[in-house]
Amino acid sequence: MDVLEAVNKRKSIRAFKPEPVPAEMLKKIVEGALHAPSASNSQPWELAVVSGAKLEEIKKAVVENPGRMKVDMPGAVNYPEPYASRRAGVMAGALDLMGIARDDKQARMQWGVQGAKLWGAPTCIYVMIDRNFLYVDDKINIWPAFDCGAITQTILLLATENGLGTIPAVQPVLYADLLREKLGLPESKLMVLGIPIGYPDWDAPVNALRTTREPLDIMARFF
Ligand SMILES: Cc1cc2nc3c(=O)[nH]c(=O)nc-3n(C[C@H](O)[C@H](O)[C@H](O)COP(=O)(O)O)c2cc1C
Repeated sequence: MDVLEAVNKRKSIRAFKPEPVPAEMLKKIVEGALHAPSASNSQPWELAVVSGAKLEEIKKAVVENPGRMKVDMPGAVNYPEPYASRRAGVMAGALDLMGIARDDKQARMQWGVQGAKLWGAPTCIYVMIDRNFLYVDDKINIWPAFDCGAITQTILLLATENGLGTIPAVQPVLYADLLREKLGLPESKLMVLGIPIGYPDWDAPVNALRTTREPLDIMARFF
């Protein structure tokens, strides 16, 4: 598979088969992704690849402790335009495919729980950075977050090449304290995002979602 084919083929998967991903394949993907670029080659990412009983323990703990939500990364709740419309488009597309009405709060909540359970993925790759590098001299240093994006996309593309589905998502790290507790990690390890990874369940309607992109002439200026 060439790079452009992997780029075009990749899309976010929100329903996985329970079939485990071979450990060797996971290792190969993560090792390959370590070649991602980073500011001054700082390689600020730290990865936790979690499968099996430990991941089941995490999914269970999250569902049983809704009051323990704690997000590490600073981010916008309200989006200004044009970003708000783009966000609304994804949400509406996913709900439509699942036959969930916009005002059906119960069904939407159930869908949120699916996210907490990593959409059934057998493995999740948690991407972390150290607090001492995200905050330097009491200011946010954005570059490690940028670099986490680079390694994330590299993981997604290598996973695609290996016939796997992925989704880069904040939902898996909404319970950061709980995650650190379960993984035995110190408070300084900030949870940036999770990448549920596994074999896509192509029978699930939500996996038919194809998000749109703005056209080239809107997004890029050529001089
Ligand atoms: C930083 C980041 C966080 C995301 N968080 C979530 C999430 O919590 N839940 C979700 O369903 N999708 C999440 N996504 C997936 C995006 O919705 C998705 O990438 C976008 O709509 C484009 O669709 P595509 O990945 O299928 O091309 C996230 C993506 C990124 C890059």
